[in-house]
Amino acid sequence: MTGKVNIDHIFYRNPTKYYPTVDRAEGVYIYDRDGRQYIDGSGGAAVVNIGHGVKEIEKAMLKQASRIAFTHGTHFTSEAATDLAERIVRMCPPSLSRVYFLSGGSEAVETAVKMARQYQVDRGCPLKYKVISRWASYHGNTLGALALSGHTGRRRYYQPLIQHTPHIVPAYCYRCPFGLEPERCSIECADDLEKTILYEGPDTVSAFIAEPVVGATAGALVPKDGYFKRIREICDRYDVLLIVDEVMSGIGRTGRNFAIDHWNVVPDMIVAAKGLAGGYTPLYVVVAREEIHRAIKEKNGTFVHGHTYSQNPLSSAIGAAVLDYIRAHDLVRASADKGKYFLEKLKTLYRHPIVGDVRGLGLFAGVEFVRDRKTKEPFDPKLRLNLLIGNRAFDKGLITYPGGGGADGVRGDHILLAPPFIIEVAQMDRIVEILDESIYEISKEIS
Ligand SMILES: Cc1ncc(COP(=O)(O)O)c(C=O)c1O
Repeated sequence: MTGKVNIDHIFYRNPTKYYPTVDRAEGVYIYDRDGRQYIDGSGGAAVVNIGHGVKEIEKAMLKQASRIAFTHGTHFTSEAATDLAERIVRMCPPSLSRVYFLSGGSEAVETAVKMARQYQVDRGCPLKYKVISRWASYHGNTLGALALSGHTGRRRYYQPLIQHTPHIVPAYCYRCPFGLEPERCSIECADDLEKTILYEGPDTVSAFIAEPVVGATAGALVPKDGYFKRIREICDRYDVLLIVDEVMSGIGRTGRNFAIDHWNVVPDMIVAAKGLAGGYTPLYVVVAREEIHRAIKEKNGTFVHGHTYSQNPLSSAIGAAVLDYIRAHDLVRASADKGKYFLEKLKTLYRHPIVGDVRGLGLFAGVEFVRDRKTKEPFDPKLRLNLLIGNRAFDKGLITYPGGGGADGVRGDHILLAPPFIIEVAQMDRIVEILDESIYEISKEIS
C-alpha cells in the first residue's frame, strides 16, 4: 500500500500513510470497506477488552440516550454516573473511594497531578508540587502529560514548551539500567526514586507517577516482584503520593482488576481508562483515596478543576454496561488464563534471531526486537523496524500496536499486543502465526 494516500479533509496522524476505510466490527474482527478482515490483536491501543459489537452495550447506549445523553457536571449528577462510580470503587482497594470522571487519558493524568497538588496545599504542605515519573514511560501527549512521559522521541519537538520534571530510571529488567540480572539485583531501580526525592528535596515532592506495566513506550514491561512494594515504602517515607497510571494496564488487562493488584500495593490514586468503556465511548477516571477528597472538601470546598464532558450520563451508562459485561462473563479471569497461553505461544517467536525479549502479564504482551541478541543492540531507528513488522502484519490481516524508543528514548523496537479478553485459542494462534510470517519476511528483507 506504499505511495497511496487518503484523499479527504482529515488531518491524519501520518498523512503519508494510507488508511483503509473501516466498515464494521464483531468480536475480535474488524472489516474494512473492501471486505478485508483484520484480527484486532492490540484492541486498537489496548482499548477493546470485551470485543467489538457487543449487543448489551448497544442496548445500554440506546436506553440512556433515549432518556438523557448530556448534562453538565456543575448542574446535575445522574444515576448513570453514580452507578458507574459504585462499580469502579468495588473494583478498587477499599481506601480508594472517590471517582473523578474524564474523557481522555492525558486529561486524566493531568487531573491526578492537579488533584495531588491541591491536596498537598489544602492539607498544609504548599511547598509540595513536583511530580516524579520514569523514563521509558508514556502518560499522554498534552503538554503536562508529555512532561511526565519518558519518551525522548515524542518529547523532542515540543521540548521548549514542556516543563522540566524529574525522571527516574525505568524498571526494565531486559535492559537493566544498572547492568544487573534480575536474579541478583536488589531492585536498585526502585531506590532511584529515593535518591531523586532526596536530591529534589522531599518537602517539594508531591507525587510519583508510574505505569505498573509499561505499555506504549516499551511493550509490556513487567517490573520485578517487590518493585512496587519498595516504591510504596519510599513514597510513605517521604510523604509522597503514589499515582498509578493504569490507562492501558487497568480494568482486567493484566489478569487482575488493576495491574498494581499483582503486588498487593495500594496506591493513592489510580488513573484508569481505555478498557473501562472498551472503545464504546471515551471514558477515563481518576480514583482517589478518601482522605484526598476529604482534605480538598474541608479546606477549599472545591476541586479547582473541571472538564465539560466529565460525568456525562451517556458515557457513564456505557461504562457501567461494559463493567457488568466483564463481571458477567468473568473476563478478568479470562485475561489471566488466556494470557498465560498467549505468552507461551508468543515465546515461539524466539526462533527468529531478531526477537530479543517476549514479555507480558495477562493479555498484555510485548515482543522486543534487537539487531544482536547477545549485546541487545537495537536497530537503527531510521529503519523503523517496528513499523515494518507492524505494517506487514497489518497487510496480512493482523492489527498490532508497534512502538519504538524503549531502549534509550529513541532506539528500540517492539510490538505491543492486547487482544480482547473474549479471544479464542485458534485466534491467538493465528495472531502468532501472522507475526511469525511477518518477522520472517522482514528479517530476510533487511538482512
Ligand atoms: C499509560 C497511558 N497513560 C496515558 C495515555 C494517554 O491517553 P490518551 O491517548 O487518551 O490521551 C496513554 C495512551 O496510550 C497511556 O497508555
